[in-house]
Amino acid sequence: MSEQASNLDKLASLQPTEAEVTAFLDASRVSPESNLIGVLQAVQERFGFLPAAALRQASRRMRIPLSRIYGVVSFYAQFYTEPHGRHTVRCCRGTACHVRGGKKVIQAVGDALNLDDGETSEDMMFSFETVACLGACALSPVVVIDGAYYGKVTPRRIQTVLSRIIADESKREDGK
Ligand code: FES
Repeated sequence: MSEQASNLDKLASLQPTEAEVTAFLDASRVSPESNLIGVLQAVQERFGFLPAAALRQASRRMRIPLSRIYGVVSFYAQFYTEPHGRHTVRCCRGTACHVRGGKKVIQAVGDALNLDDGETSEDMMFSFETVACLGACALSPVVVIDGAYYGKVTPRRIQTVLSRIIADESKREDGK
């Protein structure tokens, strides 16, 4: 099987069934009174991303046009419509970070994870992305991992942080 075909199979296998989505939205009591952002966050927390089936069902249940839901989803960088890694690493490529060595930090993260900007590792452990500004320019260069800010980072420090996460993940795997 080609690498591309096996990746597509893997992505397809990560999609929940319609029944799983229904069960989750039933249990969450999603209705016209629900808060859209809250529902989207809950769905993403449960499935790791926003499956199309969940967005369709949420649209029907909340009586919000699907196009509006997609508008909200694309507005917020926190939401993903594709399967996403268990850990999200965001590097800033903004000017303040760039002039303080951000490019080397981005390179170090890419090398440590063996990923390019916008990619997710095959084992779904990491997603890597660069963003225009992480809103913490005084701390530049900045990297955000799973929502935690790391300021004034160096390539070596961020590689140490990533190695720790990788070590924790393999301990978790071994303990299964
Ligand atoms: S430019 Fe990097 S946090 Fe603003």
